[in-house]
Amino acid sequence: MSGRSPEHYDKAYFDKWYRHPTHRVKSPAELSRQVAFVLRAAEFVLGRPVSTVLDVGCGEGNWRAPLKALRPRVAYTGVDPSTYAVERFGARRGLMQGSIDALDSLPLRSAYDLVVCCGMLNYLAADVLTRGLTQVAARTGGVAYLELFTREDRFEGDTQWPPPRAAAWYRERMHEAGLWPIGMQMYVTTASRERVSALERLYPPPRPRRHGARFWTRCARSAGPKTVRTRCAVRPRRW
Ligand SMILES: C[S@@+](CC[C@H](N)C(=O)[O-])C[C@H]1O[C@@H](n2cnc3c(N)ncnc32)[C@H](O)[C@@H]1O
Repeated sequence: MSGRSPEHYDKAYFDKWYRHPTHRVKSPAELSRQVAFVLRAAEFVLGRPVSTVLDVGCGEGNWRAPLKALRPRVAYTGVDPSTYAVERFGARRGLMQGSIDALDSLPLRSAYDLVVCCGMLNYLAADVLTRGLTQVAARTGGVAYLELFTREDRFEGDTQWPPPRAAAWYRERMHEAGLWPIGMQMYVTTASRERVSALERLYPPPRPRRHGARFWTRCARSAGPKTVRTRCAVRPRRW
């Protein structure tokens, strides 16, 4: 499990970070835009409409409504350890109780067109994350959207998580799990990497050059308004 118990993610948690006007970090409009981007990017890679979505660490299942608005026939399944979320929304929104590193124990499809881990991977202890990525890769039939922030990023929102590691560390874990980054926090698996062109795949990861980490940290720090908002939110880019 993560460093926090499932009881941490109770009604008060979701009221604070999803509904409180001061603490909420993502509006319904921002969520809809994120969902639309991820869905359409996945469909571009697949070359057809997405018909199945697995949302791991789904919380209250708030990706379901914007997904259904765009693809009414999509089969949405959420997985989350929160007793509150599953008891309250499980039947209505298709959520089941479970952890990312124990997907094998759940009655899931063998693969999904789109697997989503939004605003949840940063909460996990390293061993859970490592095991979880392998399980996510095994269920990814098309594209995985794996939102994860590193120590090179800047955060606001609920940042009570284990200290983020360097981007290079996460890249290695993804690589070991058989996940190929294609940009914008999206991945394809080794089995389906030919769906994207060679230049869209960001592997092999560049070897860090001497002082490379420090260089990138400085770049990120001087990047002005690119502060990352946690819990699945990135500060909206201006069009
Ligand atoms: C900030 S919420 C994100 C919820 C949702 N994905 C969203 O985008 O709104 C973090 C979620 O991660 C879930 N979580 C924590 N540990 C987990 C684990 N080991 N496996 C799956 N989900 C986990 C929590 O229960 C919580 O619902």
